Amino acid sequence: MPNLIKKVLITGGNGNIGALIADQLLERGIEVIKFDIPGTEPSSLRPGESVVIGDIRDKSLLSTLLDQHRPDTIYHLASLLSGSSEADPEAAWDINATASFHLLKLANEFDVTTFFFASTIASHGDDVLDPMPEDALQWPANIYGATKVAVERLGVYYKLKHGMDFRCLRFPLVFSPFAPATAVTAFPSHAFRAAINNEAFTFPVSAGTGMSSMLLEDVITGILTFTLADRDALTQHAYSLHSYYVTAGEVAEEIQSRIPEFTYSFTPLPTVDALLSAWPNVIVDDAARRDWGWQPEYNFKQSADRLMSYFQSASTVS
Ligand SMILES: NC(=O)c1ccc[n+]([C@@H]2O[C@H](COP(=O)([O-])OP(=O)(O)OC[C@H]3O[C@@H](n4cnc5c(N)ncnc54)[C@H](O)[C@@H]3O)[C@@H](O)[C@H]2O)c1
Repeated sequence: MPNLIKKVLITGGNGNIGALIADQLLERGIEVIKFDIPGTEPSSLRPGESVVIGDIRDKSLLSTLLDQHRPDTIYHLASLLSGSSEADPEAAWDINATASFHLLKLANEFDVTTFFFASTIASHGDDVLDPMPEDALQWPANIYGATKVAVERLGVYYKLKHGMDFRCLRFPLVFSPFAPATAVTAFPSHAFRAAINNEAFTFPVSAGTGMSSMLLEDVITGILTFTLADRDALTQHAYSLHSYYVTAGEVAEEIQSRIPEFTYSFTPLPTVDALLSAWPNVIVDDAARRDWGWQPEYNFKQSADRLMSYFQSASTVS
């Protein structure tokens, strides 16, 4: 039987993934409460959608929110990302780990049925095999990854001890038209944008550096399919996902095959090159495919098509 979802709270609901998940849930007639920080308010609201502005570290605000709205499901996406986490590890721990602990505690108190958590390939260190098996160790050397491992363990604690339906997905590098300029590991998306804008691009890694990757649309489909799946079908506490492997050089060639005048170079930044070189190129995701039908729709060329058409229409409009 599919998981019945009627009313959800999305933390980080005005972010890239949160806003797209909200769209999909609203289309299915599910009520959505988005929670995010000041300055992220959407310009308009759709029927069934509401927004609460605040900080995920504000325990009493979250308690009031859960008490008043009584969501049956939480999509917990609020987070500092990798760059901001490394820049301020203490804030990263407070926002990503401690606030998540409080949210899990409140979710348990207010009888939230399903708690979805977005984790990452960065929760692994450089000691994993390639292809990376599903039971790979998680000893990250970055604070962002360390906070994600902590929440994975806390969520599983609430699942095992209190019966919460905690669900977690780990994503690889995401190809997204919305990748912030400050996200250095999002350089494939930035390269497409630069090419459309007739700008030269410097890849911050060597041409041969490759990574397990996925298009944003598949992230959204994956989260929805996973959270709507029958709880009894899920055999794992957390699932790692993989779509395709591509090197920076292949990204550059693919762009140039579409925009021949695109000029690029490779000037590896040691930290970025080392991080991505350490990540596995291929991630075994058999359990996700078997348990809940994970099936990415977009290969690398199709992802390139999507990014090209997105950036082309954005540059025509602006
Ligand atoms: N995009 C990726 O490549 C990727 C990969 C793996 C995992 N994830 C995870 O998916 C989730 C969503 O990522 P995204 O790509 O949409 O990033 P995003 O930065 O667009 O979304 C995160 C949201 O959290 C909000 N937020 C940050 N601090 C907050 C605070 N103190 N209180 C309340 N809200 C706060 C931000 O305003 C933002 O809207 C994150 O948990 C991220 O770690 C993303």
